[in-house]
Amino acid sequence: MTAPADLADSAFLRAARGETPSHTPVWFMRQAGRSLPEYLALRSGVGMLESCMDPDLVTEITLQPVRRYGVDAAIFFSDIVLPLKAVGVDLDIKPGVGPVVATPVRTLADVAAIPDLDASHVPFITTAIRRLVAELGSTPLIGFAGAPFTVASYLVEGGPSKEHAKTKAMMFGAPDVWAALMRKIAGISAAYLEVQVAAGASAIQLFDSWAGALTPEDYAAHVMPYSASVLTRAGALGVPRIHFGVGTSNLLTLMGEAGADVVGVDWRTPLADAIGLVGPRAVQGNLDPTLVFAPADVMTARAAAIIEAGRAARGHIFNLGHGVIPSTDPDQLKRLTEFVRAYPL
Ligand code: CP3
Repeated sequence: MTAPADLADSAFLRAARGETPSHTPVWFMRQAGRSLPEYLALRSGVGMLESCMDPDLVTEITLQPVRRYGVDAAIFFSDIVLPLKAVGVDLDIKPGVGPVVATPVRTLADVAAIPDLDASHVPFITTAIRRLVAELGSTPLIGFAGAPFTVASYLVEGGPSKEHAKTKAMMFGAPDVWAALMRKIAGISAAYLEVQVAAGASAIQLFDSWAGALTPEDYAAHVMPYSASVLTRAGALGVPRIHFGVGTSNLLTLMGEAGADVVGVDWRTPLADAIGLVGPRAVQGNLDPTLVFAPADVMTARAAAIIEAGRAARGHIFNLGHGVIPSTDPDQLKRLTEFVRAYPL
């Protein structure tokens, strides 16, 4: 196993801490998954949640993109709804649809019926992360959880949603139920992150993918305090915290203030603007995920512009502006990885 000193000095962790890295670190949200033929082969006939609970599959799927692309970080293969499943919420992840919850949450009694999470609910996570950390050596492993708003959206809507209308109806119309639900999810997400870091994850990402549906006022009043409680608990673990959402140009300042060391930026916001909004924090992002379908020279020219813009930040971790699209050609992601890593800093 590589010495822990190499891990602490990895480009990813140095950039996340705002120190100068050897090169711009790069990884991709959803780097594991349907864009990789080796993933599809392993997953054939095995359900998504079943895969997430099998330490052998989690380990292998997490390592696949690291081997193929030589990215600067691995992200633990799981899903934001996995901890809910682990405590007993009746839900499934349907192929091509996403998380579907059998009985949506409506009342205080529904919230109270969801158990809190501890390490005994997710022994397979501890096993998988310990193995991964041993295999990865000096490559950092990112743990992750869903932020309260985004997880609440699945629990309240019962499945994926465009408008998040039922979720926001609860937020505006039943503030006591909303507060109880947000506290419950914040506790579960924080405990889930604690398990991952205790097992060896060296950074965490909090996904608030759908927070962009909110005004800054509503985010600050009804969402940010709960995300901040997760990030505060994660901060006590001493690992860098990345905070990401989609369509959040109006929220980037608040998402940083919620307790992020690194703010994830989607592709709609120019990175230079994002850097101005997040203050003395690192940024992560933000190539439009569809640019991998462009000719290689067009893709790398855009990547170069993002790296140049990133120089103004306290630290910059290169990523796409959202997850890898399943039809992405892995060879393009390999080219992109090599380009970013070789780009003179
Ligand atoms: O990034 C990685 O490589 C790690 C794996 C990862 C998954 N989900 C695996 C997955 C991560 C970090 C997530 C987080 C997640 N899950 C988020 C936040 C990130 C984001 O994309 O904004 C959200 C909103 C979810 C909920 C969810 N789970 C969705 C929207 C979907 C996709 C539905 C679909 O099939 O298009 C899932 C399923 C899911 N999670 C898959 C994977 C690889 C696809 C499952 C399959 O292979 O059939």
